[in-house]
Amino acid sequence: MQSVDLAVTALHGSVGDPALNSMNFLNEVAQHYPRAVSLAAGRPYEEFFDSTLLHAHLDRFRRHLDEDLGLDRVQVDRMLLQYGRTKGIVHHLVARNLAVDEGLTVDPESIVVTVGCQEAMFLVLRALRARPADVLFAVAPTYVGLTGAARLVDMPVRPVAGGPDGVDLVDLRAQVRGARAAGLRPRGCYVMPDFANPSGVSMDTGQRRRLLEVAAEEDLLLIEDNPYGLFPAEGTPRRPTLKALDTDRRVIYLGSFAKTVLPGARVGYVVADQRVGGPDGVVVPLADHLAKIKSMVTVNTSPISQAVIGGALLAHDCSLVAANARERAAYARNLRHLVDGLARRFPAGGAVTWTVPAGGFFVVVSVPFPVDDALLHRSAGEYGVLWTPMAHFYDAGTPVNALRLSVSAVTPKLIDVGLDRLAALVTDTAARAGVPA
Ligand SMILES: Cc1ncc(COP(=O)(O)O)c(C=O)c1O
Repeated sequence: MQSVDLAVTALHGSVGDPALNSMNFLNEVAQHYPRAVSLAAGRPYEEFFDSTLLHAHLDRFRRHLDEDLGLDRVQVDRMLLQYGRTKGIVHHLVARNLAVDEGLTVDPESIVVTVGCQEAMFLVLRALRARPADVLFAVAPTYVGLTGAARLVDMPVRPVAGGPDGVDLVDLRAQVRGARAAGLRPRGCYVMPDFANPSGVSMDTGQRRRLLEVAAEEDLLLIEDNPYGLFPAEGTPRRPTLKALDTDRRVIYLGSFAKTVLPGARVGYVVADQRVGGPDGVVVPLADHLAKIKSMVTVNTSPISQAVIGGALLAHDCSLVAANARERAAYARNLRHLVDGLARRFPAGGAVTWTVPAGGFFVVVSVPFPVDDALLHRSAGEYGVLWTPMAHFYDAGTPVNALRLSVSAVTPKLIDVGLDRLAALVTDTAARAGVPA
């Protein structure tokens, strides 16, 4: 029998797109060099993982269904074991968490609980992308999961300058106006106001307010992604989310429990309270339409995973700030250790510079030579250290002179080993290129 051969060019364009290959490539490099110290992974710290807590969380959520919501045994079993509500079964606890930790009042009906934040991005972009002229803006450098999700729905992502304030509002306005003048339809701008991945940059409260003003003046939706907001560095105050400052339902808010509870549950959510009117005059929250899309992608988020997350929320009175005290301290310690370690290894005023984020997982190091995937392979194979080329976070994909370091999945001791190796790589590569390090 003749085998079926398909050309990649005959498949959807996304499968041949570098954005979709980025996560796999980085995982494969890590697997290929298991002995290398990884300053690449943005995974959460594993020291506090405790799988024995899963039972406790499940039990806690079962008791909640029984004691707080008054469900009988059959109803509890159905809720946990059967196909379920598309928008989720922990939406009320997510709403409570947002109230407790973010001072945000949201109607639980405007929440869709998703398979990670990644699914939430896909649902939002799928819904927003209606016509070929639709474009999305995103502060550059951009999280590759967003770029990849946009590829799946054929929505171009246009970069907006980030800069030290988190978003260059002059550029944002110019980009939006330029796109409209070119006949395109801006559908929104993706932003990460807190400790962005990969830049590490945060917006201060004034900048958040100004961004909301510009978005209002330009009639633009904002898509706020906030997986790292609970992890400020020592002495850094937490700032209000854009959604908390938003008075006209301009912000679609994406949340993830990957960093604040556990990534293996694959639970995230989207708050989509924008009112959508239908031809029949009925107005429903955007969340209801996202749920329709979800019903054809993942049907519903695993109720067992949701129950684990729900139980973890209940165990801490729905405060993940309280639940993450140890994690916050570990990330802040690691961030300080990394930044101090860079300062010890690279001279002030030299060609190597780095960001000093106010929190989160990521530091960007600028070096005096282009950083590409081949250099990453050499770094992992010959020097034993992994990091992420910043080119992966720019759509053009051309090498930039910078790399991202992550502090989330390492110890201070490993940071020291990793930085010694990185310093050797940088010194040797600069010497090869004939530039001072
Ligand atoms: C900015 C950003 N958004 C979303 C996600 C994905 O979250 P989830 O694991 O909930 O899909 C990540 C994960 O690293 C991230 O860095």
